[in-house]
This record gives sequence, structure tokens and C-alpha cells, in this order.
Amino acid sequence: MKKISKICCIGAGYVGGPTMSVIALKCPEIQVTVVDLNEKRIAQWNDDNLDNLPIYEPGLKEIVAETRGKNLFFSSDVDKGIDEAEMIFISVNTPTKTYGKGKGQAADLKNIELCARNIAKVAKEDKIVVEKSTLPVRTAETLKSILDNTGKGVKFEILSNPEFLAEGTAIDDLLNADRVLIGGDETPSGQAAKDSLSWVYEHWLPKERILQTNVWSSELSKLVANAFLAQRVSSINSISALCEKTDANVAEVARAIGFDSRIGSKFLNSSVGFGGSCFQKDILNLVYIAKSFGLQEVAEYWEQVIIMNDYQKRRFAENIVSTLYNTVSGKKIVFYGWAFKKDTNDTRESAAIYVADALLEEKAQIVVYDPKVSEETIYADLDYLGTRDPKENRELLQVTKAPIEATKDAHAIAILTEWDEFKTYDWKKIYANMLKPAFVFDGRRLLDKDAMASIGFKFYKIGES
Ligand code: UDX
Ligand code: ADP
Repeated sequence: MKKISKICCIGAGYVGGPTMSVIALKCPEIQVTVVDLNEKRIAQWNDDNLDNLPIYEPGLKEIVAETRGKNLFFSSDVDKGIDEAEMIFISVNTPTKTYGKGKGQAADLKNIELCARNIAKVAKEDKIVVEKSTLPVRTAETLKSILDNTGKGVKFEILSNPEFLAEGTAIDDLLNADRVLIGGDETPSGQAAKDSLSWVYEHWLPKERILQTNVWSSELSKLVANAFLAQRVSSINSISALCEKTDANVAEVARAIGFDSRIGSKFLNSSVGFGGSCFQKDILNLVYIAKSFGLQEVAEYWEQVIIMNDYQKRRFAENIVSTLYNTVSGKKIVFYGWAFKKDTNDTRESAAIYVADALLEEKAQIVVYDPKVSEETIYADLDYLGTRDPKENRELLQVTKAPIEATKDAHAIAILTEWDEFKTYDWKKIYANMLKPAFVFDGRRLLDKDAMASIGFKFYKIGES
């Protein structure tokens, strides 16, 4: 087993940035270089003001402050990073394909292939290549084929080391990982590569939490873990719809079933729908793989998790329209939150985007406040859907940094992200600002129903009648 002294990570995003920062912190003898084609992103990672880092994660800037310039480097010189490293992580984005075969379901592996070709072109010595991005099963084989056929006789070992960190808690998830999964070939050189990567993680994690498997099991486990987690959210969300029709309370149901140790209490918070870059993409990947092997029933089973999630988002938007007397045209609706969950500035697949889109179709006037998401991102998210002219998005939707003032003459507030600060707002003042009746639609079950009702709000909470 070889001890590693230089690591390069291609992709300075939500996965690469935090993961490499923690490796640099815990392995002071390893030089870690994070490279990215996006020069602006690299400049942000190198900014003297740590509040300008390109991603927001609690605890991240403190780690970057401690390691950057010592053994953690950010650079746009991708080739140099590859050339110098003994171990290369690939952490580039793999969005769902928007064109061609597998459109809307399969992962787009364009960036991965570019990385592989780049590594093959630059590498002069043997390297361990670690796939960190979420990928469809058997991608390692693709990587191997490109590397072995286009390289110059250099030997590559390919490992799968899927990321299980959740945004908003990434640093803690990395420091105290439940498990680390390392998949690789069962040959002597494959085993040595797996042991080298295990050695990196053993700097801070107990050995028994580092699981070694074959490549396919590792790749598939990542998709399955996310599919199971998303399935729990869709399951409880399906029950939330039933609770709203009966006098049951979804939180009480979740608590009651969660006490069963076989079920467990986590990931049973009913919401306006799950978002994030992983859940939907990974399930779509699973569905695509199942279909490609002719496993129709398996594909349909997992597809239902997404159908239920889409239903939940649609249901929330439709409830706003029907409650506001069947029209929201010209009515001011304030959105609290745009990120797909609290403590992140990531908005990928956020429920807020789809709820906004549905309400904009009804000509609502939306004002968005999110403590961490920029105006540029919000408009980009809406424009990407292509539902209407970008100009119209800017006419109908405004972004504000003043959450309380924004409620002046508003008909309704919709809570789309569970940011803690919303709980401490002066809701009496907000009530006074708003037109009456003043409606609040709580898509995150953040606020207390009785307290809101006693102020005078017409208050609707997911999962309660
Ligand atoms: C997820 C996985 O948790 C992580 O292991 C994997 O590496 C990447 O995908 P992430 O997408 O960052 O992480 O966030 P997560 O905390 O899993 O939440 C996903 C979505 O589900 C969010 O929109 C969240 O608000 C929603 N959710 C989660 C619920 O609605 N209810 C819950 O009980 C839990
Ligand atoms: P993730 O959540 O998977 O980390 P991000 O989009 O946050 O996804 O980050 C992925 C990063 O990978 C982006 O900053 C992007 O510029 C970078 N990237 C994509 N393709 C390449 C490539 N071929 N070479 C270098 N960097 C790349």
C-alpha cells in the first residue's frame, strides 16, 4: 500500500470543495490541490475575504482559513494539478441529460469523459483515479476504457468513492461520517489502491467505518442510499395529503411510527417536496438503469417516488391559488426561502422554483427573500425552466433583502425553506403589514399553528387540516 503525498481534485463545487478542505485539515502531510475550469470559481475560493467563498457551508470557511496556502490550494491550471498528483478525485457535476438518448433520466457524463481524456493526455506516471461524483453504475468501466486506450502506457487504478455528505451539514458529515465506501477491482493492484484511499480516511475515521466493496456495489449503493432516503420523504408526504383531509397531524403520525426502531425517526419531516442535486437525479438514474435491463416493474416502483414529489409541489401551489379565492393574478405573494433546504445557498431542484413557476403561470406577483441565495441565481433558476420569456420573469418576480418590509400589502406568505431566522421574525408586525385576510402557507412546518392563528393569520401547514 502506497502512502499518498499529493492529491488533485477536479471540480471545485459543493462536493469537491468541502471534501478536499477536510482531507487537507486532517492530513497535513498531503498536499491537496483543487482544480476547476471555471476561473471565477477558483478566484472565489482564493478570495482573501472568506465570506466570498463560492459555496456556503457552516464550518467551511474556518477550515479553509486554516489550510489554504499551507496544504490546500485552488487553481485553474487543471493539467498541472493532474500531472503532479498520485491520486486524482473527479468531482465534476453530472446533471441529468437534457438532450438525446436518456433525455430527462440518464446522467450526462460529458464532464466525466472530458476529465478522463484530460487525465490520459497529461499523466506521465501511474495514478489512482477516484470517482466522487454521483454516477450511474458502470461508469468506472467507461473511465477505465478511456484511460487505458488513450493513455501512454501509464497504469490507472479506478476507485469508486461515493459522497454521502448532505449540504448544510457537509463538514460534520465528513468529519463524523457514518461510513466511507470504497469500491475497486479485486486484483492486487486494485486492493493496494483501495488501501491507499482507506489510509487517507483513517487519518480521522475508525477503520471499521471504511467499507471496501467491488466497484459496481459501491456505485449502486450511492444511488440506492439516496433513493431510500427520498422514498421516506415521499412516503411521509403522501401521508401529509391524507392528514390534511382528515383530522390527523402528520408530525404526530411521523413521531408515532418513528418510535418503531425498525422504521426509525429520521427523514420523516413532511415538506413541500424534496430538492437538491442528488435525490431526483439518482432516482432517475436508477429508473433508467432498471429500464435498460428490461426491469419495468423496478423502474416504475422507483419512479413513483418522483411522481409523489412532483405532486406535493403542485399540490402546495394549487392550494395557494384555491385558498386565495381561485385567483392570484396581480396578488403579491412573498416567498420566504428559495434554497432547497436551510443552511445552503444551493437551489438545484428546489421546490421553490416549481412552486414559483406554477404561481407565475397564474400571474401572481412574487417577492422572494432568501438569506443566502443571490438574485442572479433565482432568475437563472426560473429562466432555465423556459416556461416564459425571461423578461416576464423579471416583471412578475422581484428579489428582496428586506423580508419584513416586503410583506407590506402582501396577500400571502409562502414558506419554502426552513431557515431558522423565519421563526424569530416579528410576526405581529408582519401581520400588520399585510392585506387582510392575511394568509401564510407553511411548506416546511416551521411555525406554530395556534400562535399564528392567535395573531390573526389564516394559517395553512403541510400535513394538518
Ligand atoms: C442528500 C443525501 O442526504 C446525501 O447523503 C447525499 O450525499 C446527497 O443527497 P442533500 O441533497 O444535500 O443530501 O440534502 P438532504 O438533507 O438529504 O435533503 C434533501 C431534500 O429532502 C431537501 O430538500 C430536504 O428539505 C428534503 N427533506 C429531507 C424533507 O423534505 N424531509 C426530510 O425529512 C428530510
Ligand atoms: P457538485 O455538487 O457535484 O460538486 P458543482 O456544480 O457544485 O457540483 O461542481 C462541479 C464543478 O466541476 C464546477 O465548478 C465545474 O466548473 C467543474 N467542472 C466540470 N467539468 C469540468 C472539467 N472537465 N474540468 C474541470 N472542472 C470541471
